[in-house]
Amino acid sequence: ATSYTLEQYRPRFHFTPKAHWMNDPNGLVYSHGTYHLFYQYYPDSTVWGPMHWGHAVSKDMLHWKPRPIALKPDSLGYIFSGSAVIDKQNTSGFGANAMIAIFTYHDPVKEKQGAIDTQTQGIAYSLDKGETWTKYKHNPVIKNPGITDFRDPKVFWNDETNSWQMALVAKDHVEFYESANLKDWKKLSDFRFPDDPPLGVWECPDLFKMRVGDTDEEKWVLIVSHGGNSAPNGGSGTRYFVGDYNGKTFTTDQKQSQWIDYGTDNYAGVTYNNVPNNERLFIGWMSNWEYAQTTPTTTWRSAMTLPRSLSLIKSNNRYILKSQLLDTFKSIIKPVEEGSISGHLPYDFTYEKLQESFISFHAEIKDSLQIQFSNSKGEHYTISYHKDSGVLSADRSQSGLVDFNPNYKNFSFQTIPVGVRDSLSFKIVLDASSIELFINDGVYALTNQIFPTEPYTAFQINSDVTISNFEIKQVENVFDL
Ligand code: FRU
Repeated sequence: ATSYTLEQYRPRFHFTPKAHWMNDPNGLVYSHGTYHLFYQYYPDSTVWGPMHWGHAVSKDMLHWKPRPIALKPDSLGYIFSGSAVIDKQNTSGFGANAMIAIFTYHDPVKEKQGAIDTQTQGIAYSLDKGETWTKYKHNPVIKNPGITDFRDPKVFWNDETNSWQMALVAKDHVEFYESANLKDWKKLSDFRFPDDPPLGVWECPDLFKMRVGDTDEEKWVLIVSHGGNSAPNGGSGTRYFVGDYNGKTFTTDQKQSQWIDYGTDNYAGVTYNNVPNNERLFIGWMSNWEYAQTTPTTTWRSAMTLPRSLSLIKSNNRYILKSQLLDTFKSIIKPVEEGSISGHLPYDFTYEKLQESFISFHAEIKDSLQIQFSNSKGEHYTISYHKDSGVLSADRSQSGLVDFNPNYKNFSFQTIPVGVRDSLSFKIVLDASSIELFINDGVYALTNQIFPTEPYTAFQINSDVTISNFEIKQVENVFDL
């Protein structure tokens, strides 16, 4: 068993590395009952540096077991983000059921020389469930075409074309590639979207097919993360396009950007390969490049979001990608201890373990709604909704430590245009340094890091709201602290 030190902001049920810096989830692949999570990792510091792939495994995406570092930098460069597949038919010749990682090499030597062609794509394989890895000796498998940002390959098996396919980002667009053996790649097409003004660098793409609700209609979803100050509520964020993909080109009728999350802390998220029953399981990095390297944690830095199940619905002629908690999340929640809640449930109560809890309810709203989490120092996180404007907001400007970074402070107030409604449903998950909000069954998600100087214990809702189906549960500590 792993033992972690129980630092103040260490999540109790979100994945964190035991020590040092983490960013994007990488190589998300399911195989024989195990979910693998690789991640951008720098084992020598709590800030970004020469990238490795860290590794952890889980049976339920909640209890994670750390594994040895999977990939380390070599003469071709640092190991940037990418994906992993299981080569069931041994198309690569590396061995039956080899686990193959497809990643970006970033060459720091070339970068120093001011070269443009610093990023190429490489592959590596493991014949022992991701424990040990061998890099392909003829790397790189895709050379740099003369673009500075050329990275984050997401490879999947396309059963419509019977081939490996890849979505890759190139600065301001996505490129699609195809291969029979994961070694020889042919470019298929480009996808661009007319953004005005242009968003920050395109990163971490993902492409997959989904059924629309319970209908027979199928659409393809393309996910892209954007660096710079791109996202609607500040900093880096992840958007999606819903459209069609004919095995070569992706097209969409979508006119506007749609974002996976309205909070500031869900970046570079992608979905699992090889999951049975076409489930789309998503994990994001629960941070934001605008302040990620200065958050007030000590031994480690950054956590992943809770895993989310994605689904597609059509509403008012628009496709919406919903994010919901997994069913397995239920297995780590339990009734709160008897007598541990005092006050007037659900409107105004205190609970010692509020920051290890799951809260869900339905709210019928008269004019407005205000939900507040606070501690005895008066630090608070507030969710508000005004029926006349139809805008929901989350305010963390007085949530605790906020001055550690000017951008964190600047992005304290976040909004979602949910429209004029008489009722809203909420699922809220609080951990030691995060709040995840799922509204209307995941039509809207809002993920935030928070750093209260002491845990929140008080919960309040304004009394003219009619609350039904209220539930508060304690979430188990899944790490062996
Ligand atoms: C996204 C990203 C990727 C890159 C990686 C480097 O957060 O910038 O584009 O591969 O992080 O760590």
